[in-house]
Amino acid sequence: AHRPLIAPSILSADFARLGDEIRAVAGEGDTRADWVHVDVMDAHFVPNLTLGLPVVQSLIKATDVPIDCHLMIENPDKWAIGYAEAGAYNVTVHVEAAHDPVALAKNLRAAGAKAGLSIKPNTPIEDHLDTLKHYDTLLVMSVEPGFGGQSFIEGVLDKVRTARRLVDTGHLKLVVEIDGGINADTIEQAAEAGVDCFVAGSAVYGAEDPGKAVAALREQAAR
Ligand code: DX5
Ligand code: ZN
Repeated sequence: AHRPLIAPSILSADFARLGDEIRAVAGEGDTRADWVHVDVMDAHFVPNLTLGLPVVQSLIKATDVPIDCHLMIENPDKWAIGYAEAGAYNVTVHVEAAHDPVALAKNLRAAGAKAGLSIKPNTPIEDHLDTLKHYDTLLVMSVEPGFGGQSFIEGVLDKVRTARRLVDTGHLKLVVEIDGGINADTIEQAAEAGVDCFVAGSAVYGAEDPGKAVAALREQAAR
C-alpha cells in the first residue's frame, strides 16, 4: 500500500484563526497534512452554513498545503468552477446535487484542478460506476454531511471495497477518500477496506496538538 494521505477538516477548527489552524498542520515531516479539507455548505444541500469562495481564495493564498474543497451545495454545476479557478487542488461535488457531473468534472480539470465526486451514506455506488472514470477522487461519506463530530457509519465500507477493487484491477484511477467519524477507533477498518485519503475534523482539531494527531492517524492507517 502507498503512504496514507491525511486531510484535516477545518470544519472543527477555530474559524476566527483559520490561518493559524492551517499552519498547525503545515509543518515539516510526519506532522504535515497532505491536504487541507475545506467543507463548503450552503444551508440548502445540507442543514448548515460554513464558508464560500472568498474565504477559500484567502486560504489558498495563505498556505502551500493543497486545498481539498468539499462542496456540499446545490447547483455545483454553476459554483464549483470558481474553486478550481481559485487554485484549489481538488474540487469535490456531490452526485446527489450535480445536474451533469461528467461535464462538470471535465470543466474542473480544464481549469487545472482535480475533480472529485462524493456520495452520501445512503447513495448506492452502483449507478455511478460508469462515470467514475472522469474523476480523480471519490469521496465516500461515512456520516450524513453537514456536521463534524458524528459517529462513523461502518456500512459505507462496502462502497470503499467496490471502488478499491476497480482501482486495483486497473478499471479505474481514483484516490479513494473517506469523510466523517474518522479517528483512532475507526481509521484502521477504513484503511483495511482500501481508503487512500482520510479526512479527519474533530480527531485533528479536537486534539491538543493537531500536527501530532495527523502523524498518529497516518501511522495507524499505514499498519
Ligand atoms: C461533514 C464534513 C466533514 C467533517 C468531518 O459533513 O464533510 O468533512 O468535517 O468531521 P469529523 O471528522 O469530526 O467527523
Ligand atoms: Zn467534508
